[in-house]
Amino acid sequence: RKAVSIPGLMTMREQGEKITMLTCYDASFAALMDRCGVEILLIGDSLGMVSQGHDSTLPVTVDDMVYHTASVARGNQKALVVADLPFGAYATPESAFENAARLIRAGAQMVKLEGGTWLLPTIRFLTERAIPVCAHLGLTPQSVHQLGGYKVQGKTSAAAELLKTEALAVQEAGASLLVLEAIPATLGKEVTDSLHIPTIGIGAGVDCSGQVLVMHDLLGVFPGRKARFVKNFMEGQTSIDAAVSAYVQAVKAQSFPAPEHWF
Ligand code: KIV
Ligand code: NA
Repeated sequence: RKAVSIPGLMTMREQGEKITMLTCYDASFAALMDRCGVEILLIGDSLGMVSQGHDSTLPVTVDDMVYHTASVARGNQKALVVADLPFGAYATPESAFENAARLIRAGAQMVKLEGGTWLLPTIRFLTERAIPVCAHLGLTPQSVHQLGGYKVQGKTSAAAELLKTEALAVQEAGASLLVLEAIPATLGKEVTDSLHIPTIGIGAGVDCSGQVLVMHDLLGVFPGRKARFVKNFMEGQTSIDAAVSAYVQAVKAQSFPAPEHWF
């Protein structure tokens, strides 16, 4: 296949082809996901939980993210590589640029950061300086203390309106992708329909432009509590290749997520 690019993702969105994204933290899994046709590999700060064993993403450092990003980039050939800026790494536009540049040097092609209105100057600062940005709205795990737990977001009409406004604003500021986590499926659809950039949902319904899962959830190896939006794709499969391929197929066919996975 051709290398996945940002314009290529825009074309997929326009043509109605669903985009597949998975988290990935090392070279072997990067090679596997790439050959299974996953479009986007996300070095998520979820590695703090699934790999390092912390109970949140907050302890993850930029050094950790650089290490895993370099590993994934070495294993990958065609997928687009996106890396999370971890907690505390983008408090100002300048520090965001310094840290994002480290991730880009390590092989990321885009960085992801969590938040809306307060990040608009930062998104503009990065994109004007040639660092593509994926925004992340809804349940933003780096804000777990402020949110009071990992809860569905955008449930009141005021919260839904704010999220819709922020989605348009991050697009306007230059974001080329938007992750929507744990929001009502109807809101996921409304936001997606209001934007021209692709949305990637996790617990945001089937009408987003694409889907993302944490690889340990997809493989059924994460020992912690399972969120409603998680599906173990190893069930009924005899290899990890087959499970990842089944995920890709299910997202393309829009059989995942199903109503039992959304809010
Ligand atoms: O860190 C992560 O894995 C993520 C995805 C769940 C979107 O941010
Ligand atoms: Na993350």
